[in-house]
Amino acid sequence: MRFKNKVAIVSGAASGMGLLTAQKLTEEGAKVILTDINIDMLSAEAENIRKNGGEALVVQVDVRKYEQIKHAADTAVEKYGAIDILLNFAGGAEGRVLNCSAPFHEMPVEVIDWGLDVNLKGAVYFCRAVLGTMIKQKRGVIINLGSVTGMEGGGFGAVNYSAAKSGIIGLTKSMALCGAPYNVRACCVSPGPVLTRPGMANMKTRLGRAAEPQEVVDLILYLCSDKAAFITGSNYVIDGGRSCGGME
Ligand SMILES: NC(=O)c1ccc[n+]([C@@H]2O[C@H](COP(=O)([O-])OP(=O)(O)OC[C@H]3O[C@@H](n4cnc5c(N)ncnc54)[C@H](O)[C@@H]3O)[C@@H](O)[C@H]2O)c1
Repeated sequence: MRFKNKVAIVSGAASGMGLLTAQKLTEEGAKVILTDINIDMLSAEAENIRKNGGEALVVQVDVRKYEQIKHAADTAVEKYGAIDILLNFAGGAEGRVLNCSAPFHEMPVEVIDWGLDVNLKGAVYFCRAVLGTMIKQKRGVIINLGSVTGMEGGGFGAVNYSAAKSGIIGLTKSMALCGAPYNVRACCVSPGPVLTRPGMANMKTRLGRAAEPQEVVDLILYLCSDKAAFITGSNYVIDGGRSCGGME
């Protein structure tokens, strides 16, 4: 019960690592505000969490809309009285998510905007919305999801994704600097391929496989916990050795 009575906000909580993290947090005693653009999936997953005895509220949030993010942050404070943990999961490579195979130099501006807005601006907005509360409380943890693509560059369908995920590292360090005097920590987790979808098995790693979502979530939960109280401003690469280089 590492997170007993902690209050967490999770973006991108309807599926993948965001959902798994939210489930694990509630199993370990946290009260979680689940947010996602996909309200149907989110509501169904929240119901499952409650059936298992977890405490979860749902707020529909499109991370491109600051007022919706602010509403989620306000809901956490109104209903639970605090924001202890923020997890920014919402994101994805624009070419894949929007089914756009155009190379970068022919990519519609809407696809470029999606890549930057969802992967970077949404996380910036969420940090903006929670930092004041965390500073007032003199405690808090922010975990931002980067990617090895943010460190090694992206191919034609992930140029904006790569730029955004690089930006996530700067955002994390900035939050660490702003938060440190108030006991507010910020960390970035940069995974290589994760099997939240089967296609990720095609991305090579030195260990010859992609990560199980649980492997990444275990690291994230550790960073959120009090055991990680001296860790802030760091980017954790979890990529099966891919960033050692020489991989296609
Ligand atoms: N899966 C991987 O291999 C991998 C690797 C490196 C980094 N990541 C990063 O980890 C995070 C989670 O990845 P995943 O594979 O679990 O993702 P996923 O695709 O399973 O989940 C992403 C969630 O974000 C939500 N979302 C999309 N647009 C949104 C918007 N505008 N507002 C709010 N929510 C929105 C989706 O509805 C979805 O529930 C992402 O930021 C991703 O870039 C994933």
